[in-house]
Amino acid sequence: MKVQFPNNDFRLTNNKLTKNTKNIIPNLDTLSLEVYNDKEFAQSYSNKIEYNSHNALYERPATLSLLPNVTGKKVLDAGCGPGKYSEWLVNKGADVTAIDYSDEMIKLAEEKVGISARVLKANLNLPLEQLKDEEFDVVISSMVIHYIKDWQLLFSEFNRVLKMNGVLVFSTDHPVAMCSLYPDGNYFETELISEEWKSYGIEMSSYKRPLSEIFRTLKECDFRIDEVLEPMPVAECRENFLMHMKSCRDSLGSFASEQLKRNNI
Ligand SMILES: C[S@@+](CC[C@H](N)C(=O)[O-])C[C@H]1O[C@@H](n2cnc3c(N)ncnc32)[C@H](O)[C@@H]1O
Repeated sequence: MKVQFPNNDFRLTNNKLTKNTKNIIPNLDTLSLEVYNDKEFAQSYSNKIEYNSHNALYERPATLSLLPNVTGKKVLDAGCGPGKYSEWLVNKGADVTAIDYSDEMIKLAEEKVGISARVLKANLNLPLEQLKDEEFDVVISSMVIHYIKDWQLLFSEFNRVLKMNGVLVFSTDHPVAMCSLYPDGNYFETELISEEWKSYGIEMSSYKRPLSEIFRTLKECDFRIDEVLEPMPVAECRENFLMHMKSCRDSLGSFASEQLKRNNI
């Protein structure tokens, strides 16, 4: 069962002390590609995130709240999916480049943003060769990085393509919530996990890793953490979220559902 509470959202500034990614061996993982490249799934994902509780009313408001003013800024949407964030950014007057490794997601993103954004196929497990050094003011990556095993290359590449004092905003599954789902796993290890996304009828794999590793990698890749959110659902979301939580309560175990109850959600 997909637990959709809570996520973590991070806002960081890069210090640009290093930007050498040449010695990092890329990981050729294509985790999740089969699912994201399935035409039916991609369309269904695109439709659902327009209105659903997790993306539209919980994750997106929190992630967008961390963005600086993007008007006139060069923004990279890394793992753009069907282009919802890119569309938002274009509407705010940003100069957007969107990348993803799924052809189906790229098609949907292109349909959404037309010629208002540059949409490219790129794998975040590899060096982002189509992107120049210090090309972007902002990188946003929403609900993507838990599909990537090797964060050294990923964050070093984000650092390379960002200007000095550029901003990186990302959201990801909260490690404690993910761990509470896998009592047999080891919180302190980076582990491949798999969950059923019931509303899509699919099995989704991703990596969970401890908070200490997240912070260590960000520091090693020269990012300075400005803000970390553990967001609550917005008011509009509470009713939907409550129904969702009730339906998952059994598999949630005690942690996330107790936290929601204690916070009157
Ligand atoms: C959960 S979706 C999020 C889409 C979008 N960021 C959003 O929040 O609406 C994850 C996206 O990450 C992409 N993705 C996963 N691993 C990737 C990789 N190694 N390189 C590029 N894209 C990747 C998938 O194809 C998918 O479109």
